[in-house]
Amino acid sequence: MSTSHWISSGNDEMRLHEPGVMNTSSALSSSLSDGLRLPVIVAPMFLISSPDLVIAAGKAGVLGVYPVANARTLADLEAGLQRIKGELALVGRGNQWAINVIVHPTYTRFDAEMELLERFQPRLVITALGGPQRALARVHAFGGKVFCDVITMVHARKAIDAGADGLVLVATGAGGHTGSYSPFAFVEEVRGFWDGPIVLGGAISNARAIRAALMLGADFAYMGTRFIGTRETLVSDAYRQMLVRASLSDIVMTKAITGVSANWLRESLEAANFDFTKLDMAGKIDFSNVNGDSKAWKNIWGAGQGVASITAIETVAQIVDALVRDYAALGAREQQLAAWPRSA
Ligand SMILES: Cc1cc2nc3c(=O)[nH]c(=O)nc-3n(C[C@H](O)[C@H](O)[C@H](O)COP(=O)(O)O)c2cc1C
Repeated sequence: MSTSHWISSGNDEMRLHEPGVMNTSSALSSSLSDGLRLPVIVAPMFLISSPDLVIAAGKAGVLGVYPVANARTLADLEAGLQRIKGELALVGRGNQWAINVIVHPTYTRFDAEMELLERFQPRLVITALGGPQRALARVHAFGGKVFCDVITMVHARKAIDAGADGLVLVATGAGGHTGSYSPFAFVEEVRGFWDGPIVLGGAISNARAIRAALMLGADFAYMGTRFIGTRETLVSDAYRQMLVRASLSDIVMTKAITGVSANWLRESLEAANFDFTKLDMAGKIDFSNVNGDSKAWKNIWGAGQGVASITAIETVAQIVDALVRDYAALGAREQQLAAWPRSA
């Protein structure tokens, strides 16, 4: 059964809402899927994602997102964008990359970064730490799309009202700054008023979880933690080894580090002599100097609840190949699922 319902009247296509029928294949999400082997977006991660990660993701057949704040200077950002676009173009995937911008009012480099994006023209810009308004007109002017990263229903509605082209729903269990909603409830409720593209994040770390995200009504899986330890990221080997050792109970959620709820590796908190009696206190929110000295993220290492999926240090291509293989093998499970419903 088709999950989307389109009526064509002349040149206009009109989407219908029907109870229980979700459109999970809008024209925009299918155009963003072009060239992808799986509907996976390698999520942007502060001090982790490198141009190499984004290039490797594009080459492996998923969509990598470069967080502009990871470039220490604007000259570094320009060089990084040049490499990403150039190297992917060499393999016929010049469009298969995306950008993450911080729109928080305390972040001062926004305008200069937008000028560079106007030159390099990513097809997708994902806004974080605020509403998409600051980015919308400028990205639309060069033909790009804007997805907005949200963790609450209020922000999801505001982003759509402001004109966002898509939503990134960060549910509970995500690495770095996390949401607290169950993905079951979050996607369902947003689908009640939005039938455009939805990207779902939060502990999606294997092929079954990607499939489950699509079943819930999302169009893409947003995967961060699964890729932190890859050889293409900027992290130290000590961080990589800590990820391999960690499992669910090694993930600690606290506002104490950056002022907003985020998931961290317990072992790194211990190594940084974090005072665990302060776990319930909120730190100060300030994104003004993320390109400079940001001790929080340098010494205390983030990871989400899907961390146990990291059992070895691999390349992006190895992980994507494994996800593709595992996804293809889900057929057996699908047959078991098809046993339901039964007549009682
Ligand atoms: C260490 C770390 C740093 C992150 N930094 C950013 C960031 O700079 N910008 C952003 O939009 N999201 C950031 N995220 C969140 C991811 O983009 C994404 O929402 C999350 O990784 C998805 O959940 P998962 O880690 O369980 O896959 C970060 C995540 C991690 C683990």
